[in-house]
This record gives sequence, C-alpha cells and structure tokens, in this order.
Amino acid sequence: MATQTLLITGGAGFIGSHVVRLFVKKYPDYQIVNLDKLTYAGNLENLTDVEDAPNYTFVRGDITDAAFLTELFGQYQFTGVIHLAAESHVDRSITHPLEFVMTNVVGTVNLLNAAKAAWAGQMEGKRFYHVSTDEVYGSLHNPEDFFLETTSYDPQSPYSASKASSDHFVRAYHNTYKLPMVISNCSNNYGPNQFPEKLLPLMIRNIINNKPLPVYGKGENVRDWLYVVDHARAIDIVYHKGQNGDTYNIGGFNEWRNIDIVHLLCKVMDEKLVRLPGESAQLITYVTDRAGHDLRYAIDANKIMHELGWEPSLQFEEGMNLTIDWYLANKDWLDGVTSGSYLSYYEQQYGQQA
Ligand code: NAD
Ligand code: TYD
Repeated sequence: MATQTLLITGGAGFIGSHVVRLFVKKYPDYQIVNLDKLTYAGNLENLTDVEDAPNYTFVRGDITDAAFLTELFGQYQFTGVIHLAAESHVDRSITHPLEFVMTNVVGTVNLLNAAKAAWAGQMEGKRFYHVSTDEVYGSLHNPEDFFLETTSYDPQSPYSASKASSDHFVRAYHNTYKLPMVISNCSNNYGPNQFPEKLLPLMIRNIINNKPLPVYGKGENVRDWLYVVDHARAIDIVYHKGQNGDTYNIGGFNEWRNIDIVHLLCKVMDEKLVRLPGESAQLITYVTDRAGHDLRYAIDANKIMHELGWEPSLQFEEGMNLTIDWYLANKDWLDGVTSGSYLSYYEQQYGQQA
C-alpha cells in the first residue's frame, strides 16, 4: 500500500521529467501519477528509464478539461499534487497569449477545484505544490536588487502575467478554502531534456548544426541560471518540508549576461567539437530584440537555504559541461523533438533556412 499517491502534472516536460525521475527513484513507497497532455514540449522519451517502475503511471490528459480532472481525482485518491504543467516559453506567449491563459490560469484553477473537491473535509496531510517562476516579479534595473519572497509582483510578459495570475489563485484558495499549499518561484533552469526553444539548448543545437546564434538585442539581458537537477532537489525539499501557505524562491546566485553565456558555450563547444578557437562564435548574430524584454532576473535564495537547508550541488561550469555532453550524446533526441512541423521562434521570424 502506497504511503502517498502523488499527482505530478507536466511530468513529460523539461523540469517535470527530472522531478518525476527523482520521486520515482527516491520514494518507492509513493505511487506517482504523471499527468501530461504531451504538447510539443512534452516527450515520454525523457522518462524511458523509469517508465516500467512499479510505482509509476503515466496518464495523458489536459488540465484545461475540468471533467477529466474530476474523474482522475476520483480514480486516484491523491494525497498531494506537484503542478508543473504549463506553457513555458516567453516568445510563444507573445505570439499566442490566450494559450497561456488557458493552460496556466484556467488549467491551474481547474486543478485547484479538483483538489478542493477531492479533499473537502479532509485537508489534513494534503498538499498542493504550485511550481512557479521568478519572472512574476518583473524586471530588475538596479544591479544591487534581488527578488525576495516579499517582492511585489510586477509581471511584464504574457507568460509571466499568466504565471502570476495562477500564483494568486493558489494563494486565494489557501486563504478562502484553507487548501494546503506551497509555492516556489525559481530562476532560469538549464540541463538535459530542455526543449531547444530556450536559450541554452537552442544555442547548443545551432552550434552543432553550424547555424546562426540569434542573440536578442545587444545580449545584455541578465538571467540567473540553475541546473535542473538542483531545482528538482529543491522541489523535493519544499514539498516535504515547506511551511503550509508559504513561498520559497529558488536560484543559483549565478547571474550571466546572455552574450557572455553564449560566448562561453561557443568556447566550450569549440573544444568538444575540435573546432578552431573562435570558430563557433562567428555564428553569433544579433537580431531584433524580444518585445518587452525583461532586463534582469536575480533570485535571493537565502530563505530556502537557511530555513529548509537546500543549496545548489553543482558549480555552473560543471553543470554546463554535463549539459553540453548530454546534447552531444543525444542528437537523436534533439532531431526528434524538432522534426515535423516544429519551427523555432527565430526560424518563424527569419525563415526556415536559419
Ligand atoms: P516545459 O514546457 O518543458 O514542460 C511543460 C509540460 O507541461 C510539457 O510536458 C507539456 O506537455 C505539459 N503541458 C502543457 N500544457 C498542458 C496541459 N494543458 N495539460 C497537461 N499538460 C500540459 O516546461 P518546463 O520548463 O519544464 O517548466 C515546468 C514548470 O516550471 C512550468 O510551470 C514553468 O512555469 C516553471 N518554471 C520553469 C523554469 C524554466 O527555466 N524552464 C523556471 C522556473 C519555473
Ligand atoms: P529563454 O531561454 O527564452 O528564457 P526566459 O526568457 O524565460 O528568461 O531566454 C533566456 C534569455 O536569452 C532571454 O533574455 C532571451 C534571450 N534569448 C536570446 O537572446 N536568443 C534566443 O534565441 C532565445 C531563445 C533567448
């Protein structure tokens, strides 16, 4: 008999697959149900190493379908939810904002309603964990500022507005219906299995294929990068030890300007691909800036470090090496997820041959 029946949404995506793997392996006494719609970003190949585990079940479904969720919560007596399913790319949110409202806002409220109904009168021991982003806090302009858990929300893109809205609903359900919940807001993740629409895997893929490396604007925007396995470890800790109703910021204290990170990637990949020093950097192409491009994100992760004892396990150079090596060893995965009708944002804007 499982000690917990845990619903993980978005488990076939980038971060979700690392969370599913960690929980399936670390908690053999939990029954893990991975609910995923398998959009372009979801890929069951991310989970081949755990797909036959006795404590793991995959269910294909859509969180915007409230009736389906009611049925699912009836079938499994979930004791907890870790909610990662989302539309997650800022560029797509600029071209298709309503999809972000549907999945990120309506989908989250559907899940909250399903949990609230299933747990009515028996909230004790239950937990709804909403995985969110630092982008809800907006853009930093003073170099000394960091995002704290108390920083006011100021989302600037349709993506971050949809995530901010979902965070507000989760807190509102805690306040209004006493739904037990925790939220974490994490900085930019990188690592294996990230869809090559995001900065690092897109650049790695284009370096491998000798294609232009599209740097938005002047490349001076700053992001704080965290290895995805360290985010999954943080999610484990927050799920088990976080205070009911509380919020935890997660980040790597690891800020990079985009142009610097792209140069570092080029340098490391020149070595790995046995190219002349500087060869890959010649592919760098400055392109029109993203509309409303947030200048800087930086997380103050002191609360989770001091209250819950989490800290990043990897230095950035180590994480980058692991990541690049993974993509070089998994070119089939890269080709597979981008085959068919998929076109990157850059290709949509500047043509397929890019
Ligand atoms: P991702 O795009 O790689 O994966 C999202 C997953 O959700 C996919 O498997 C997709 O199939 C699934 N999904 C999408 N719509 C769905 C629907 N309607 N019903 C069911 N499943 C659906 O995203 P990711 O980068 O792994 O991000 C996961 C979560 O973490 C998101 O909530 C995101 O906002 C948050 N987050 C991401 C980052 C980051 O750097 N990637 C940082 C902080 C927080
Ligand atoms: P991204 O990975 O899309 O994450 P986010 O926008 O959520 O931070 O982008 C990271 C940074 O890299 C962001 O400042 C935009 C920039 N960027 C480029 O310069 N070129 C690209 O092709 C992409 C995808 C992003």
